[in-house]
Amino acid sequence: MDPNRLTGKNILITGAAQGMGAAIGEHYAAQGANVCLGDVNVEGVKAVAGRINAARINGGNNSGKAIAVKLDVTSRADNAAAVEATSEAFGSLNVALLNAGINKPKFFMDIDEENWDTIMNVNAKGQLLGMQEAARQMIKQGPEAGPYKLINVGSIVSRTTFDDVIPYCCSKHATLALITGGAKALVEHNITVNGYGPGVVRTELWEQLDKDLVEIGKFEKEGQSMDSLAENMILMKRYSYPEDVVGTASFLASSESDYMTGQLVMIDGGMVMQ
Ligand SMILES: NC(=O)c1ccc[n+]([C@@H]2O[C@H](COP(=O)([O-])OP(=O)(O)OC[C@H]3O[C@@H](n4cnc5c(N)ncnc54)[C@H](O)[C@@H]3O)[C@@H](O)[C@H]2O)c1
Repeated sequence: MDPNRLTGKNILITGAAQGMGAAIGEHYAAQGANVCLGDVNVEGVKAVAGRINAARINGGNNSGKAIAVKLDVTSRADNAAAVEATSEAFGSLNVALLNAGINKPKFFMDIDEENWDTIMNVNAKGQLLGMQEAARQMIKQGPEAGPYKLINVGSIVSRTTFDDVIPYCCSKHATLALITGGAKALVEHNITVNGYGPGVVRTELWEQLDKDLVEIGKFEKEGQSMDSLAENMILMKRYSYPEDVVGTASFLASSESDYMTGQLVMIDGGMVMQ
């Protein structure tokens, strides 16, 4: 593998203040990409961008630059502004990683409009708006500079369901439809659309989910949800960390995946096989 396989790529990442988005931002930059990190948590993305730029200045492996922007993915204006900031800072946009996502478990009969709307807005509508605004810029740049890449973050629940997180499952099924439908819609502009589906990844999202699952009475004590899934549902018998995901995210952003489109790749230790 070429350690500089992302050199020359300008990449926007949504939800990059922590968890997988932050880890991927650092990994992309270490492989030569310039990254624009967007999040509702502005201080968070500023800190990640600061780490990336400091590593460059101090002669670390990073050869890419980073900027941080305030981005609420549910706002079309914010998505458009983040795309503009990326192209202004780096000259163009080659890849957009639609990573921002949230979850809040509830049993089926307890799901209310607020729970449904909040999750679907961020995870499903947020990805659609991000794809559209990134594609608008890519179309403007012209097909010769492609293939451009949209990468949508799905989940194991893009292909299966758990009955205590149904709005989240619906939003990640929407991701799969955005990947396959988007691939068909955008191929004429030399834009590919792919994604990946993590399984159980130890991030702030899952730490919170773990607490929430105890609160609704699904599990008795914190930590049990991850251990129980690892033991009973993950073929490799362990949950994962952001480091388990960065390699596939990097492959999908690189020219090594140029002949792929419309695909959702699972990174789940063998939880869901298709
Ligand atoms: N952790 C897991 O086990 C797991 C498994 C499968 C899929 N995923 C998906 O991976 C992605 C990243 O998850 P993570 O575990 O790193 O989560 P995380 O909670 O650690 O990070 C998510 C980031 O998204 C940001 N965000 C939330 N709402 C936003 C909005 N409206 N606009 C912009 N940013 C927003 C948060 O501030 C946060 O920085 C999500 O799409 C998630 O659904 C996570």
